[in-house]
Amino acid sequence: MTVPDFDSAIPETASPEVEFISLSHLNPSTELNPVPTRGIDLAYFRRYVAALEEGGYDYTLLPYGSNSADSFVVASAVGQLTERIRPIVALRPNTTFPTVGAQKLATLDQLTEGRAVVHLISGGSDAEQARQGDYLPKERRYARTSEYVDVLRRSWTESAPFSHDGEFYRFDDFGPGFAPYASPIPISIGGQSDEAFQVGGEKADIFSFWGEPLDDLRSEIERVNGIARASGRTTLPRIWVTFRPIIARTDELAWEKAHDYVAKVAESFQKYAGRMIGKGAPQNVGSKRALAFANRSELYDRALWTKTAAVTGAAGASTALVGSPETVAAAILDYVDRGASLVSIRGYDTLADAVDYGRYVLPLVRQEIAHRRETGRRGTLQAEHLGNYAPEYSRYATAGQA
Ligand SMILES: Cc1cc2nc3c(=O)[nH]c(=O)nc-3n(C[C@H](O)[C@H](O)[C@H](O)COP(=O)(O)O)c2cc1C
Repeated sequence: MTVPDFDSAIPETASPEVEFISLSHLNPSTELNPVPTRGIDLAYFRRYVAALEEGGYDYTLLPYGSNSADSFVVASAVGQLTERIRPIVALRPNTTFPTVGAQKLATLDQLTEGRAVVHLISGGSDAEQARQGDYLPKERRYARTSEYVDVLRRSWTESAPFSHDGEFYRFDDFGPGFAPYASPIPISIGGQSDEAFQVGGEKADIFSFWGEPLDDLRSEIERVNGIARASGRTTLPRIWVTFRPIIARTDELAWEKAHDYVAKVAESFQKYAGRMIGKGAPQNVGSKRALAFANRSELYDRALWTKTAAVTGAAGASTALVGSPETVAAAILDYVDRGASLVSIRGYDTLADAVDYGRYVLPLVRQEIAHRRETGRRGTLQAEHLGNYAPEYSRYATAGQA
């Protein structure tokens, strides 16, 4: 593999800033050690959220599924348990009428003095949508999401009552709605189907991806930016990318851990991935892409590993970055160089990993960003910790494989 040139010139596509997201977990059950539970372990949840805030994360995602805790209620709890971290509410338009969604989000925003963010889920699985009475085909779900964004923004900004008669929603004489704390609440959209790019490119403040090989992700970023420009936008959506890092003191030790983890994750997936996730081929494009990458190769670029996606049907965020904190921080900077400004990381050993990333990975990435801001030059982390760009790394990656 040719080693890219990590000289001191900062790539033109590089984001000047990076913020970190991590998902909030409600109980100690993990993919490594699944403990079937239907509940919130309050002490664990409080410890988890506190660890994210102390660890320097900027946002926490409250995901949504038909059998999960309600993301709004959990976000409100996060807001009161923290001072700084921003709760990202995953919201499916089929579950909440848009003016009510606007009201809930504005309430959360005021209760957190302006920290609310919303991630609109159009829904990657017809079966999952049907569990809550939503029978729209996916492309229509995205059209509904598009109308939903318009109503959210009008509900937050219109100073006089207004009526709306759209394809999916109709109401009369609404408002002025309950207002956000100070500024508009950022709207994120995720998904990789054509419809996702169209709606996200035209209307999203943030467009989110699951972790892909660098060049593939860069062309997806250019695609959403192209749609944004074509729609006459002057600001491009911020780019959010998600990984499952597996770190240890050295690359070699990280790979020993990775092989151990993937065996456990595969076993629990086989054992527990029943009705909700399904063992069949995923319907959403993001997961299909992840499986295609996994079929093509296990290793990409500096540290991207796709085996974790292959053994879990790429359900949700499923691609890993494997290595020492330095190698993983350098890999994250590679994505920042491609335009990502929001990096979501969550481990398989949930709480312990969240703490470790906060101690060992976030500071390294932030040091480099500060160095770039001060000097206008790239530091040496990416040149010094080559990961898979150096021959010994792939030896570790293949060692210990069954
Ligand atoms: C970062 C990220 C977070 C997501 N969180 C959720 C979630 O909490 N619940 C959910 O049902 N879908 C979630 N999704 C799935 C998508 O929002 C989307 O609806 C689905 O993947 C449809 O995908 P497609 O357009 O790629 O086919 C998430 C996607 C991304 C990229």
